[in-house]
Amino acid sequence: MTTDPLIEKFQQAGQGHVFAFFATLPPAEQRRLLDEAAEIDLAEIARLTRTLLAPGGAAGIDLGGLAPAPYERRPENGGDAAAWDRAKAAGEAMLRAGRVAAFTVAGGQGTRLGYDGPKGTFPVTPLKQKTLFQVFAEKIRAAGVRYGRPLHWFIMTSHANHAATEAFFAAHGYFGLEQARVHFFRQGRMPAVDLQGRILLETPGSIAMSPDGHGGSLRALERSGALDLMQREGIDTLSYFQVDNPLVRAIDPTFLGWHALQGSEMSSKMVPKAYPEEKVGLFCAQGGKTVVVEYSDLPMAMQQERDAAGQLRYLAGSIAIHLLDRDFIRRMAAGGEGVALPFHRADKKIPTVDAAGRPVKPEKPNGVKFELFVFDALPFARNPVVIETRREDDFSPVKNADGVDSPQTCRDDQRRQFGRWLRAQGAAVATDATGLPAAGIEVSPLFGYDEDSFAEAWKKLPPAPSIRDGLYLE
Ligand code: UTP
Repeated sequence: MTTDPLIEKFQQAGQGHVFAFFATLPPAEQRRLLDEAAEIDLAEIARLTRTLLAPGGAAGIDLGGLAPAPYERRPENGGDAAAWDRAKAAGEAMLRAGRVAAFTVAGGQGTRLGYDGPKGTFPVTPLKQKTLFQVFAEKIRAAGVRYGRPLHWFIMTSHANHAATEAFFAAHGYFGLEQARVHFFRQGRMPAVDLQGRILLETPGSIAMSPDGHGGSLRALERSGALDLMQREGIDTLSYFQVDNPLVRAIDPTFLGWHALQGSEMSSKMVPKAYPEEKVGLFCAQGGKTVVVEYSDLPMAMQQERDAAGQLRYLAGSIAIHLLDRDFIRRMAAGGEGVALPFHRADKKIPTVDAAGRPVKPEKPNGVKFELFVFDALPFARNPVVIETRREDDFSPVKNADGVDSPQTCRDDQRRQFGRWLRAQGAAVATDATGLPAAGIEVSPLFGYDEDSFAEAWKKLPPAPSIRDGLYLE
């Protein structure tokens, strides 16, 4: 009997246990297990085991020479208003020229929310219960109409949610977008390993594989042909945002303009941290590069440091909104000497099997997942720009089932935003002290998807409606 060469490679790498139950599997499952195994780069797993799992291997990051990253302040905080105006005009010209596409990363597992289905299919708006995907679709559609150029939209899925995501869009007629402009592609996967670096089986016939992190988007964009498509269509800039944040200005001309005018290859939005202990990554400068340092890696004493004016020194919180230059993504995806995103280690409870093939549901972390983070591309980018945004204009993610960053806080933040847009137009909106309107209201992105587009639409209304419970503007 001959052994499959792939199985031999696993044996030689000390990972032969992956095939412990192989002989007992039906042929279809054998095939599937071999396919999964073929996705794995054994040398990479060996390297990660050495660097991230060995005692002391995952030592904290180097804090040498770390300083707060510079960023473009908003005009009301001392920024140059004329420069912000120039940026907006430049970004609008990019949109009219069709140079921009939207990009949503939707390959996460969404374990904290605990919702059964792709996270983008979660209902999120306060009145109409529109799903996250519908909100983004309508923003993208409205921006396309506004600038006279329909936008392409790339959506990164995972192996687990790809089919369900595609089916959802088909069932909803792509929410009025042209099907040919909505592109789905799967991200890569990585095997989970135990604390000694041995690849974990999820069942006797399958490996515990999980998505390779949002940083996997760079190589997935290349592999899927998305970058080629962009090139053919004359698109040079991707507007990157997460599937869990319906408040995001998915298409933001001012941000685009800052990015283009500074010749940036990767740009980011920051919000000032609300309090020192807030759990967000921080934009920092180190060795002439821009980096994001995770809150868990920055000593609390540094997070609490204040400048002479009493403001937090490390103020610039990352909210996972970026612009990416097409050729930069290509360069990152190609890798090469010293050009690679580092993997991060996340210790997790990973369902697996025991030596007899029986299921094991661990009570405490029994293994490690390896993930890439997109912000780790920043130090490789030429002229990276970080601009300030207001949290209430761009960021209210749905992460947890309740408490902070939950469906409830997100619905309330959407209502506050609608209330602000209405009040800016002189409408009488009664609110509580936090700005939450008393009435349940909703604005469709097709009516207005940011303050400017809302103002234009409002001024065109025959008579402006009175603000009442259940008011929906479309
Ligand atoms: P999160 O860090 O919130 O992770 O992802 P998650 O997997 O969605 O949720 P939890 O931690 O299990 O509760 C932030 C964004 O990055 C995407 C997610 O879909 C979300 O838009 N993401 C994350 C990917 O696309 N791929 C990944 O491998 C991880």
